[in-house]
Amino acid sequence: MAKKDLKQYVCQNCGAIYPKWQGKCDACGEWNTIQEETLSSEGFSNINAKHSSGKELDFVALSGAKEQIDRRSTGIAELDRVCGGGLVAGSVILVGGDPGIGKSTLLLQVCASVANSADKPEVYYISGEEAIDQVRIRAKRLGLENSPVNLASSTEIKDIITSLKKSDAAVVVIDSIQTMYLSDVDSTPGSVTQVRACSYELIKLAKKKGFTLFLVGHVTKQGEIAGPRVLEHMVDTVLYFEGERGHHFRILRSVKNRYGATDEIGVFEMQDKGLVEVANPSALFLAERQGNISGSCVFAGIEGSRPVLVEIQALVSQSGYSSPKRAVVGWDTNRLSMVLAVLEARCGINLSSQDVYLNIAGGLRITEPAADLAVALAVISSLSNKPLPADMVVFGEIGLSGEIRAVSQPSLRLKEAKKLGFTSAITPTNRASEKKLSEDINLHQIGNVQRLINLFN
Ligand code: TYD
Ligand code: MG
Repeated sequence: MAKKDLKQYVCQNCGAIYPKWQGKCDACGEWNTIQEETLSSEGFSNINAKHSSGKELDFVALSGAKEQIDRRSTGIAELDRVCGGGLVAGSVILVGGDPGIGKSTLLLQVCASVANSADKPEVYYISGEEAIDQVRIRAKRLGLENSPVNLASSTEIKDIITSLKKSDAAVVVIDSIQTMYLSDVDSTPGSVTQVRACSYELIKLAKKKGFTLFLVGHVTKQGEIAGPRVLEHMVDTVLYFEGERGHHFRILRSVKNRYGATDEIGVFEMQDKGLVEVANPSALFLAERQGNISGSCVFAGIEGSRPVLVEIQALVSQSGYSSPKRAVVGWDTNRLSMVLAVLEARCGINLSSQDVYLNIAGGLRITEPAADLAVALAVISSLSNKPLPADMVVFGEIGLSGEIRAVSQPSLRLKEAKKLGFTSAITPTNRASEKKLSEDINLHQIGNVQRLINLFN
């Protein structure tokens, strides 16, 4: 049969497929993202081409699961925790992040650390972005040049698959999936079809041979992993490596994990000798806090399973604009607008002629609504120019009617605060679990934002 090429038009933003070219993608609404891609009759479509009749499956019972999944420690505790307790054999981990954030550095450190473990596993680091010498220079800088890591520079998936098939690999790193190329697929590296086809081949091999596969993925301007969303569905774990430019802290966050909890974070600090784990992030985030300054409030947050204390800074100043400015770093702008609106409507605080700037110190991004109360207090403190007590932490969600709602795990938050020497806390009212701690830490439980004003009188 003559080889028949299939043409299709794929949105490079969302992966939607069209039979004809069009200017705008109906699925995601983006313009000029649709490109022609060709699938040869072999290659990507061989997924179902060869077994037309199919073979029978062996069905089994639900019982009989292993008590515990075998996990391999990477020797980097922060990464182990984010992965749910270590690397699972045959699992695939996608690591996304902005360019220059430290993905290659982290994974090289992981490779070296695993390669040096007692059972001497085979570890492969395949770079499609950097030449061998570049990786070697980095390894030297990190002091890892003597680790038994197998290094290669390649972008050809077929070569990589052939080499790995022969190996007894335990961990494989592909840096990055957007540079990889499968010659059967006639589109450029980084295109949706290539990324999908290359990942498919690699993942299939990882499952078959039982090695842990790390795929590095670039992110788009919107902060999503470039290429189709399907890539996130194909892998077991998705980790994002984030951090503000100009800060040393790097946060590894799990957004999907088939083998553990999500929203878990690992905290690292980028130093001149690579990434160093931060075992006690609260102490670090609060290290540069200056006491007795208005507009500063310590929020007792939870990231994944771990309590983290961070300083929330607000600056309220007379606006020179007709519509006042609201600028936020590290939190949700809409959430700030909501908190400000509640303060205006329920407490009679006038902010309509004031610019409000909000900053989460240290470069952490907070997503919890539990930070509402701390934000409100920081804003009122800045507006009234009265500092909050330096030894006080705050948490609580604010509702539209001004009520303060309970949040999850209050005792864990208070315990962390106590550990770091805080002596008082403003929290939502009545939660049985908080009572136990109330002797150690001075609790002010409040039910409504109107009560906040009294605190400043
Ligand atoms: P890199 O791992 O190349 O980032 P990515 O792979 O995510 O693009 O990190 C590069 C940055 O990290 C670069 O700006 C320099 C910095 N860096 C250090 O500060 N210390 C180090 O030891 C190393 C290796 C890199
Ligand atoms: Mg890199």
